[in-house]
Amino acid sequence: MEIEFVAADAPPGSNVAVARIAFEGEPVDAALGRAVGASRFTGAKGQSLDLIAPAGIEAARLVLMGGGKRGAFDALAAEQAAAAAYAAVKLSGLETLRVEMPAADVDLAARAGLGLRLAAYRFDKYRTKEPAEKKPSVVRAQVVTADPEAARVAFAPLAALADAVSFTRDLVSEPANILYPVEFARRVKALETLGLEVTILGEAQMAELGMGSLLGVGQGSVRESQLVIVRWNGADDPNAQPVAFVGKGVCFDTGGISIKPADGMEDMKWDMGGAGAVAGLMHVLAGRKAKVNAIGILGLVENMPDGAAQRPGDVVTSMSGQTIEVINTDAEGRLVLADALWYCQDRFKPKFMVDLATLTGAIIISLGSDYAGCFSNNDELAGNLLAASAAEGENLWRMPLPDAYNRQIDSMIADVKNTGGRPGGSITAALFLQKFVNGLPWAHLDIASTAWKKPSTVPTIPDGATGYGVRLLNRMVQDKYEG
Ligand code: BES
Ligand code: MN
Ligand code: ZN
Repeated sequence: MEIEFVAADAPPGSNVAVARIAFEGEPVDAALGRAVGASRFTGAKGQSLDLIAPAGIEAARLVLMGGGKRGAFDALAAEQAAAAAYAAVKLSGLETLRVEMPAADVDLAARAGLGLRLAAYRFDKYRTKEPAEKKPSVVRAQVVTADPEAARVAFAPLAALADAVSFTRDLVSEPANILYPVEFARRVKALETLGLEVTILGEAQMAELGMGSLLGVGQGSVRESQLVIVRWNGADDPNAQPVAFVGKGVCFDTGGISIKPADGMEDMKWDMGGAGAVAGLMHVLAGRKAKVNAIGILGLVENMPDGAAQRPGDVVTSMSGQTIEVINTDAEGRLVLADALWYCQDRFKPKFMVDLATLTGAIIISLGSDYAGCFSNNDELAGNLLAASAAEGENLWRMPLPDAYNRQIDSMIADVKNTGGRPGGSITAALFLQKFVNGLPWAHLDIASTAWKKPSTVPTIPDGATGYGVRLLNRMVQDKYEG
């Protein structure tokens, strides 16, 4: 989807769908009064009214988008309205969508551009027989604004963000026969063209570092495990302490010997959504040349059951020196993160670490599919994450880390065990991770609830991979850790 910013007096052309925002409680254009009067359209947020453009309006179709109350029409509302307009006309046969923004505000126009880019995302590389009429016809959008040049400038970092979210969505959508650890690492390595530095460790190097916890997860797979270290050095002071992000990248999670039921197991191709989000974050930081030093660490494995697979009851030694009794081989994400987090703090001494992981089914039971869970040992970091979450519309809810629940993961024979039973399953998973952060400010985002959505409930997120986390973390870095 190509986005242009144009002035109101630029002629739309006739093969164009025009989308106009209408506000609740305000009169519409007289030419539309009769059509609106004959409908239930009130301008409320989320409504739309699709019209054959009446005489006098130069367009093939006109879509009225409900903007809600004018005073509450903010950046997120502009995104959603533009995205919903795209959804309304994408199969119309028309190629151009012209979005008329109500206010002179250049930032709202840029945000509409972001909404359009996110809404137009599609993963269709494996469709070879799709009929033409089922493919979107709209390939170009014009956003009308008072100052097109200023809107273009405001849009540049948002275009970088849209590119990054698309990158993450592609990774998450790929099936596991295509995207296994080595291939994932290769795709991240290719981001060096953006100015990132990417280092890849294989199993031999991880063994040397003592990463028995991560390696145990991958040992039943024929695919080699990988640890990918991505660096973005954008701060004015090259020695400025970095911020760090760590992602769970289980390219496929069968459960291992504690194998999962067949029903729905195909979903476990997206068990690398945390690593996908960290890769996307590094993509946008480089894409918009963020003034920050940042580290991204991806723990990439495949959790399979073969003759070499680890068994329930095995004891592994993590890089931290702590021993772990593996009660359930399906609680593998925390085993991967244990070594990735320890490595991160040991090697880079960052200001803080934020990990993202599709870690527990229990977070879906706790929060449903509209919120990810946030666990943190640091109120300032948690506050920054929650503020960024609200600003970008990627919902996050703080969860507790009660010390008393630690006894649920006491092991009889090792320092800790990898499951704590059903009560508070997401919490005991987070408490397990906390043992591997060495006291650093840290937050864990359990995104099992939000990495994949079907059906989707917002027009900026097509069904499937959401790219959750990229926007949120990019926003937090931008607002709190740059310059
Ligand atoms: N990848 C899963 C968590 C998950 C479940 C993500 C459903 C998305 C949708 C994770 O590795 C897992 O299997 N967790 C277990 C932990 C249990 C064995 C303690 C779970 O949640 O059941
Ligand atoms: Mn699992
Ligand atoms: Zn998993």
